[in-house]
Amino acid sequence: MRTRLRVGLIFGGRSGEHEVSLVSARSVMDALDRSRYEVVPIGISRAGVWLVDGDPLARLEALLEQSPTEAPGPGESPARTALIPGLAGSVFPELDVVFPVLHGPFGEDGTIQGLFEMAGVAYVGAGVLASALCMDKISAKRVLQACGLPVVEFVELNRHRWQGGPEELLEQVERRLGYPCFVKPANLGSSVGISKAHDRDELGAALDLAAGYDRRLLIERAVDAREIEISVLGNDEPQASVPGEIVPCREFYDYEAKYVDDRSELLIPAPLPEALIKELRVLAIQAYRALDVAGMARVDFLLDRQSGRAFLNELNTIPGFTPISMYPKLWEASGLAYSRLLDRLIELAQERFAERQQDRVRR
Ligand SMILES: Nc1ncnc2c1ncn2[C@@H]1O[C@H](COP(=O)(O)OP(=O)(O)O)[C@@H](O)[C@H]1O
Ligand SMILES: [Mg+2]
Repeated sequence: MRTRLRVGLIFGGRSGEHEVSLVSARSVMDALDRSRYEVVPIGISRAGVWLVDGDPLARLEALLEQSPTEAPGPGESPARTALIPGLAGSVFPELDVVFPVLHGPFGEDGTIQGLFEMAGVAYVGAGVLASALCMDKISAKRVLQACGLPVVEFVELNRHRWQGGPEELLEQVERRLGYPCFVKPANLGSSVGISKAHDRDELGAALDLAAGYDRRLLIERAVDAREIEISVLGNDEPQASVPGEIVPCREFYDYEAKYVDDRSELLIPAPLPEALIKELRVLAIQAYRALDVAGMARVDFLLDRQSGRAFLNELNTIPGFTPISMYPKLWEASGLAYSRLLDRLIELAQERFAERQQDRVRR
């Protein structure tokens, strides 16, 4: 009998966050306790091809260095690669747990979680529904709102409507939200396609930009806010970490501020009064439960500087795992070291898998 758990680490992927995923995966790979785990690396290229032989992480890192901006060509439809069903049939049964270190679409949005469910393998993190809900900013806000949790006022629309009657829509948004406002594609991450609009011209341009990324679009009132984040860990009894604060070096925490300009600051713990910290930790767990998240999520808040009110901005079900990422750093500051955090996530994956076996009708 094997004494070590066999953990499939999946990284790379088709999203714009491919590169961040490789950095996260490298650090998870280095920190996994080899006396407890045998690690099976599984890479997914930017074109969606799965790599299992040799050293997939080194191969993807080298590919990225050669061509940092390569995107899948028009004919390379990953859905057609026969490799995916083959893998699910041949590699997954050999694994005790899979750990997707993938961010954004096709990794954090429930699609690959669906593959794990169908393959009958235990996996780290949220299930299909919670992953999909948290990836879609509109759906997540609707659920949070229905549960009585605070979210910033918003208007939703789809590309078809935007392309059909722009003037009337712009007026409606102005009436309901005013300026400045934030325009976002509902389903991306890393601030891609997000803009802050200060007048009607900018709003139109922002909607055109966002509509290039997604058919579902979200417009929100801009809050003059401090950005506070809390790490949550657990299945049925989730725990919340100390809060952290992001101090962006630009007008908002856009793509440049996240990955290019390194002058943004992380304050851990966030300098906040004790009573507010308590309130935010309760809200983080309520949001986690409302969206039925399992394993982990980083819960992001906007804390209004004027009113002092806290709004839930978004939940990230596979947050960054690089050595400087907020999710593991907040746990470190709460007394849980990086590699113990990984142990706990793997345990939670097994617990959730076992819990699901109690269903009368096996799924
Ligand atoms: N309603 C808002 N008011 C003020 N700032 C916002 C608002 N929405 C987003 N932002 C800013 O834009 C950044 C990215 O938005 P977010 O919704 O978190 O998208 P992503 O999933 O790409 O991180 C936030 O970190 C924050 O700086
Ligand atoms: Mg964000």
